[in-house]
Formats: sequence, structure tokens, C-alpha cells
Amino acid sequence: MTTVPRSPHAPHPTPGIAAAAFDLSKVYGSGDTRVVALDGVSIDFREGEFTAIMGPSGCGKSTLMHCAAGLDSPSSGSVRIGTTELSTLNDRLLTALRRDRIGFIFQAFNLLPTLTALENITLPLTIAGRRPDQQWLDRVVAMVGLAQRLDHRPAQLSGGQQQRVAVARALAAQPAIIFGDEPTGNLDSRAGAEVLGFLRDSVRELGQTAVMVTHDPVAAGYADRVVFLSDGRLVDEMAHPTPDRVLDVMRRFSGGTSRTPAVDAGSRTS
Ligand SMILES: Nc1ncnc2c1ncn2[C@@H]1O[C@H](COP(=O)(O)OP(=O)(O)OP(=O)(O)O)[C@@H](O)[C@H]1O
Ligand SMILES: [Mg+2]
Repeated sequence: MTTVPRSPHAPHPTPGIAAAAFDLSKVYGSGDTRVVALDGVSIDFREGEFTAIMGPSGCGKSTLMHCAAGLDSPSSGSVRIGTTELSTLNDRLLTALRRDRIGFIFQAFNLLPTLTALENITLPLTIAGRRPDQQWLDRVVAMVGLAQRLDHRPAQLSGGQQQRVAVARALAAQPAIIFGDEPTGNLDSRAGAEVLGFLRDSVRELGQTAVMVTHDPVAAGYADRVVFLSDGRLVDEMAHPTPDRVLDVMRRFSGGTSRTPAVDAGSRTS
């Protein structure tokens, strides 16, 4: 495991690290309304690894993901995508980096209703003026099982299929890293399992790097590692997670504020 040194300066870029946050803090508001959402978080996301971020509601998961993806700026600390330090970029370059190097899967699929599945998948490339790599696109479409649905519009697809379009769209541009904020939160368990399977396959078969926020220990079981946040700090990390072991750690969080979902995949509450 790569240990990020705690020095006042961010370490030099390390080969094999797709994205890294160093001593990240994020403070919202001031005075009575001051909230420390992130409090000195350092984390590496290694290439070809699938990381799940977990922790109680309000602990800073979305804030960490938004800062790491360049959607929000930290109050202090630094974020690097590959070797690029985000704070050195102006708005235009940051927008271009997000477009070219980062894929997003949000809870709401954000598909355009008037476009077909294929047009939705290639939209970010079209906007960027890039020609899709047809071989790559074929692979992605085959992997998410949408080859027979490419001409359908979102309204003609099931929720799981729509989310798979969103996954394919995130993969199409061959981003350095994909971020998902509860990417299966809106899906039933079967459709969710499909999407998580595709994410895992994209990591294993295509070498993709992926990071996902989730409340669900079963979803976290698809990842290569789980990091646990509490009150804006990283408090635990688990390699090769299983739903049962993840649930054990979640139970250790005090206050019972975590939205523990009904887990029906092999966990016991007694
Ligand atoms: N724009 C904002 N202004 C003020 N406070 C904010 C803002 N965004 C988030 N916060 C606060 O920062 C903290 C972390 O929020 P964040 O959305 O990162 O939590 P989370 O772990 O993603 O929670 P959840 O699991 O409920 O999605 C919370 O206390 C939240 O109220
Ligand atoms: Mg959140």
C-alpha cells in the first residue's frame, strides 16, 4: 500500500496512482453555521483498482468525491489526477480535464431523453470533438450488454438498462478514473447488482480505475477495497471486502446514524 507522507507539501506524483488527495480539508460556512466536511483526508486511488467510500450520512463522502473529481474545490490541501495538480488549472483547463480524464456516474442517470442509447453514450466525446475509438466502444457496449438496445431512447429502457447506459457513457471516453456517487442507489437489487458487476468487470478486464460512494455493504463487496469516513476523516480501510465484514465495521460507527440498509445477502443481525 502506498503511504502518503504527512508533510506540508504534497508528495511527488507516484506512478500507478490514478488520483490522489493530500491533506484535504473542506469547510462550509462560518461562525455558527461553520461545518468541517473534510478534515485532513489523504488518499490514493491506484490504477486498476475499485474503491468504495462508506460512512454515516453527512460524514463527507460526497464532498470528498466532488473535490477529488474537480467538481468542488477544497479549502486546503491538494488533489491530483494522474500527474496534474488541479489547483494549478484555470476554469477552462479544469473543465477540459474533467471532460477528458474523468467519468461520472450519478444517482440520477442524467441521460438526454431525445437521444438514443448510443448517442447518449458518445455524447461526451461528441461535445469534446473526439471521434470514438470504435473497438473500445464495441467492447464497452458488449460488456454492459446493450448491443441490442443502442437505438432505444431512455424512456424505452428499464432503470437498470438506463444506468448501464450511464456506465457505458462514463467508460466511453476511456477516462483515467470513474467516480460514482451512489450509482446504484435508485436501482432494485438485481439491476444494482448488474451495474456493479459491470463496474467491477471494467476494472478487472479493461483496467479502469473506479471510485464509488455507497451505503450498501453488498455494493461495497464488489470493490477491491473500502475506505471508511467518519466526521470528515478517514478512520478505517479494508482490502477485499465482503458484505459481512463491511457491516461489522459499519456497526462500530457510534450513534447509529448510518443508514444501514436491509441486507439480504448473507449477513446476520443476531
Ligand atoms: N454546500 C454546503 N453548504 C454547507 N454545508 C454543506 C454543503 N454541502 C455539504 N455540507 C455539509 O458537509 C457535511 C458533509 O456533507 P456530504 O454531502 O459530503 O456528506 P455525505 O457523507 O455525502 O452524506 P450522505 O450520505 O447523506 O450523502 C454535512 O454535514 C453537510 O451538511
Ligand atoms: Mg452524499
